[in-house]
Amino acid sequence: MQSLLHRLGWAALAATLVSGSAFAGDAAKGKVAFVKNGCYQCHGFVGQGGAGAKLAPKPLPLEAMVSFVRSTNRQMPPYSEQILSNNDLDDIHAYLESIPVGPDPKSIPLLNP
Ligand code: HEC
Repeated sequence: MQSLLHRLGWAALAATLVSGSAFAGDAAKGKVAFVKNGCYQCHGFVGQGGAGAKLAPKPLPLEAMVSFVRSTNRQMPPYSEQILSNNDLDDIHAYLESIPVGPDPKSIPLLNP
């Protein structure tokens, strides 16, 4: 019995690893966290920028984003892990990554008379 549980545990872990959800953030949850933590107030709802920098499309790599958000001492207030968990930050990164790049202005006839 114990060995069965043991095996089921490994199967579940393997399934999680294969689907990638053990590491990758969840973009839908990230969108909620982005709004809940007030990121949108300075960076805009889709990270387009405003008072804060443009964050998307093509956000900073996850590690760089995490270290910035934890330690910034310029205009943006730092967010400690007590306020914003690593999980939420992973999700926020996934959300920013999910924002599509807009079309090339040269491909829009109205803008190229
Ligand atoms: C009070 C306004 C404000 C809020 C709220 C805010 N930011 Fe910022 N953020 C800024 C500003 C301004 C900058 C530009 C750097 C600076 O002056 O600190 C910045 C820069 C950044 C950068 C670096 C971008 C780059 O390309 O260098 C990241 C990443 C970032 N913010 C993420 C976040 C996330 C994630 C949240 C929410 C958890 C958030 N910010 C909330 C104002 C804000």
